[in-house]
Parts: sequence; structure tokens; C-alpha cells
Amino acid sequence: MKISGRTFVVSGGASGLGRACVREICAGGGNAAILDMNEELGSTLAGELGASAKFVPCDVSDTSSVAAAVQAAVAWAAETGKPLGGIIPAAGVGSAGLILDKQRQPLALEAVDFVLAINVRGTLDVVRQALPHLAAAAPEGADGERGVVVMVASVAAFEGQMGQVAYAASKGAVAAMTLPMARDLSRFGIRVVTVAPGPFDTAMTAVMSDKVREGLRKAVEFPARSGRPEEFAALVRHAIENVMLNGVVIRLDGASRMPSKL
Ligand SMILES: NC(=O)c1ccc[n+]([C@@H]2O[C@H](COP(=O)([O-])OP(=O)(O)OC[C@H]3O[C@@H](n4cnc5c(N)ncnc54)[C@H](O)[C@@H]3O)[C@@H](O)[C@H]2O)c1
Repeated sequence: MKISGRTFVVSGGASGLGRACVREICAGGGNAAILDMNEELGSTLAGELGASAKFVPCDVSDTSSVAAAVQAAVAWAAETGKPLGGIIPAAGVGSAGLILDKQRQPLALEAVDFVLAINVRGTLDVVRQALPHLAAAAPEGADGERGVVVMVASVAAFEGQMGQVAYAASKGAVAAMTLPMARDLSRFGIRVVTVAPGPFDTAMTAVMSDKVREGLRKAVEFPARSGRPEEFAALVRHAIENVMLNGVVIRLDGASRMPSKL
């Protein structure tokens, strides 16, 4: 898939890993529709990138909001003459809570619903609603490729830490969706790749205590630091461009393996 001349729908595109993808896509000659509930960050980024980016307010946990946002993105793609080329559902939230705390209180179901609604249902809904438009794009190149879905899991899908039952469940679900989605979409020439990042420097990790962040950093073998969002975006670009990458979950983690607790 070429990035140039195509439009990519990026949820969570106003901040962190999603924002780095938006910048990478625009730098590569593509257009990016930034679907995010943070209007301030989203409009600032779109303003900075000019005609190649458009901010569309969206709450991925609300299906009517996703419908309106996808319609706006598709209408914009038609206006600019850059058809859809990919969907990057990067909106996500962290969540911490023991399944049973010291007072023997079980994890609140509201906390479980919150993280699943955004990280799983929201991811699936953005992909689900944008796919009919991606499948309508003209096939490209000798392989007849129509587009790419790049989802965002986490190393917590494989080694969730203490307090990450709900978050790990949400990211495990994203990882598990990858292969069946690729199988479903192969007839349309649409690929599916999931990236499972280790710790990256974003707003999500900035809110953690210094102790937790230092612990995360120490869990990384080499390089001895957290990842930078542009390193994540570089892998997403490769996933878009390499037609053989399909139905796979790729760890991007500097060989980190998360310990039980930090
Ligand atoms: N930063 C890390 O270390 C790390 C590691 C592994 C996985 N991830 C995953 O990467 C993804 C991006 O996280 P990030 O680190 O860039 O965090 P971030 O907080 O910088 O960005 C997340 C973006 O998602 C948006 N968002 C949240 N809820 C939303 C909703 N309901 N509707 C629309 N937009 C919403 C936020 O407004 C924000 O712009 C998440 O799925 C996260 O779980 C991050």
C-alpha cells in the first residue's frame, strides 16, 4: 500500500501513538482523519498539518458518534480525491485495579466495562464502520490491495501485570481479533496487522508515578529507555507498505518482558 494519495482514519489520533501515525502519514503524502474526543489537541494538530489532516470529534465508545465521524472522514476523502487506504484504531485508555483487593473487594464492573468499551468495542466499531468504505476503494497494484487495518494491542496482552486484568483482557482481545479479521478481509485485498507496544512515552505513561515509569523503563532490555511515538509510527508505516505483513501481532518493545509488579 502506498501512503501517498490515500486517506487514513486514525482514532486516538490527537495524542501519543495515534498522533505520531497522523504525522507520519501526512509526511508521506497521505491524508489523515483524526478521530478523537480531545477536541483541543485534535484541532491543534489538524491546524499544524494544514490541508492534509482533518479533525473529526468522536467518542469511539458511542456507535452513533463513530458513524458520524466515519461519514465525515469518508466525505472528506471524496472531496480531496484521496480514497481510504487504511484504518488505525489507536484510541485507548489504561485502567488499573486488582481483581480482588486487600479488603476482599472485587474489581468494579464499571471499570471493566469502561476499558472494554473503548479498547475492544471502540476499536472494533471504528474498524467495522470504516471497512465498507475501504472495501469500495479501487484495488491497487499487482496484488489488488485495497487497504490495511493496523490495530494497537500492548505487551499486556501477553504479560499483564498485577492490577491489569481488565486492561490485559482488552488488549488480549485486540491481539486475538487480528487473525480472524485478516481471514475475513482477505477476499477484499485488505490486510490486518496489530502492533503490541511495550512502554512508550505518551500522555498515558506521563500520568504514572516516577517509580512506575522507572520500573517500566528498567523492564526494557535495549535500548535502555521507553519507546518514542515516532518509532511506533515507523512500524505502522512499514505495516502499511509491506504487503506480506498480514494477520500478525508484532511486539515493539526493546525485548521487554513485564514483571508481575514494578
Ligand atoms: N504508551 C504506551 O506505553 C502504550 C503501550 C502499549 C499500548 N498502548 C496503547 O496505545 C494506544 C494509544 O495510547 P497512547 O499511549 O498514545 O495514549 P494517549 O493518551 O497519548 O492517546 C490516546 C488517545 O485516545 C483518545 N481517546 C481516549 N478515549 C477515547 C474515546 N472514547 N474516543 C475517542 N478517542 C479517545 C485520547 O483522547 C487520546 O488522544 C492505546 O490503545 C494504548 O492502550 C500504549
